[in-house]
Formats: sequence, structure tokens, C-alpha cells
Amino acid sequence: MRRPIVGGNWKMHLTRIGAVRLAREVGEGLRAHDVDAARLDVGVFPPFVYLDSVGTTLSDDRSPLELGAQDLHPEPEGAFTGEVSAPMLLDVGARAVLVGHSERRHVIGEPESLIRRKTHAALAAGLRCVLCVGELLDERDAGTTNEVNERQLRSALEGAAVRDPDMLVIAYEPVWAIGTGRTATPQDAQQAHAHIRRVLADVLGTDAAARVRIQYGGSVKPANAKELFSQPDIDGGLIGGASLKAEDFVAICLAAVPR
Ligand code: PGA
Repeated sequence: MRRPIVGGNWKMHLTRIGAVRLAREVGEGLRAHDVDAARLDVGVFPPFVYLDSVGTTLSDDRSPLELGAQDLHPEPEGAFTGEVSAPMLLDVGARAVLVGHSERRHVIGEPESLIRRKTHAALAAGLRCVLCVGELLDERDAGTTNEVNERQLRSALEGAAVRDPDMLVIAYEPVWAIGTGRTATPQDAQQAHAHIRRVLADVLGTDAAARVRIQYGGSVKPANAKELFSQPDIDGGLIGGASLKAEDFVAICLAAVPR
């Protein structure tokens, strides 16, 4: 049985005060519903500059929330202006990191070779690596969803040492569903997730693949979360817009708690 996992990707939003308040409200909301880490993993991914403040809030609150970053540089240190390394993230209390989010792939233009290096660096550093994959609208229309996901997965995981399958999470996020209000149907998402798990079985072995959590992301809201999360291979979600409102994010987390 895989413990579900939900992440709030705050992207380039909020202020320091707003980020701290949101983290506190989400922590309170989860505690009010007795959601503890034994039943659900929940992470928040603030912008780099707010990691320290949010991390301090979470440890003061003894919150069940895990702190995560939205990106990392593959090298541990060096002359890489503007970049942030895995040891720096660990130093400010981050325990997870997003890698290969579609906005980094398609808006910033990160190549798959760089995403592979970031995946390796995150896993080697002991950060939970939330590796994001997903197809563009024309790729879906061309019927190549599984092919695209498979290529992105195999590329990122090539040569990676996944010692603990709990530390690798795949976020399947169809690019056309991110921030658009359009969601994949639960059935379409399940099909993509099942294919991702088959690829993981081939790359990591069946036992490890059965333990890796696969999140769905793309316009998840309180109203559609339950049905998505009830699919057998959907183990939670990566939430953008709806994670900026504590009430909505907590409702989505509750929808992922097994009953
Ligand atoms: P969204 O974003 O929930 O706003 O669609 C999801 C994501 O980009 O992780």
C-alpha cells in the first residue's frame, strides 16, 4: 500500500508574510482533521527566497508538512550565478525538490540532459525527488502521450541510483491541463499513470515500481480531487493554483487520505 502524497507548488507567488501565513494555515487545517504523516505525505514548495522563513514556521508549529524547493542546480557549489544547490536546500531545511516541471522544460527551456543531472543530484543528496513529466497538447492530439512520458522518464532516470523508492515521486502533469482549468479525465490520467508504472518496472524493477508514488497534476481542485485520487495508480497530486488557498489545499489533501 503506497502512502498518498500531495504537494503544493506555489510557483512565483506570494510574499514572505503571505507564504508564512499560508504554511501555518495549511498546517493548522491538517491538524484540525487529524491528518498525520502516517496517513499522508504533504509538501509545500515555496519560492527559494521564502524557504527559510517557511521552514522556520513549519518547525515551530511541529507541522506534518514537508518543505520542498521548486528546482535545484546539479552541482553542489561553484560559479553558477543565480543558482541554488542541493546542499543549500538541505541547509535551509528542504527535504524535497521538484525536477523537470513543465514550466522549466517548456517556458525556461531546460533540456532533458539537464533534467537528468538534476534528478541524479537530488537523489544523491537525499532529497525527495519529484520528477515531473507530461505531454503537450499537440503530443496528446497525436496520440503520443505514453511515448512522451516514457521518453522523459527513461531519460531522467538513466543511470540514476534509486536506493529508496520512497524518495522518488513522479508527477504526471499533462501540460495542457496546467493552470488552464482543463483536467485529464480520471480514466485518461489512470491510463497514463499505469504506463508510467510499467516503465518504472522496466527501469527500476517491479518491487521498486510498486512503491514509487505517482502524483497527478493539472487543475486539481477540491471538486475533482477525490475521483482522480481514487484511481488505482494515482497516489496523490501536485497542486498549483489551488494550493495558494489553504482551505482548498487542505480539502484536496483530505481527498487523498485513504478511508
Ligand atoms: P495547476 O498547476 O494546479 O495550477 O494546474 C499544477 C502544477 O503546475 O504543478
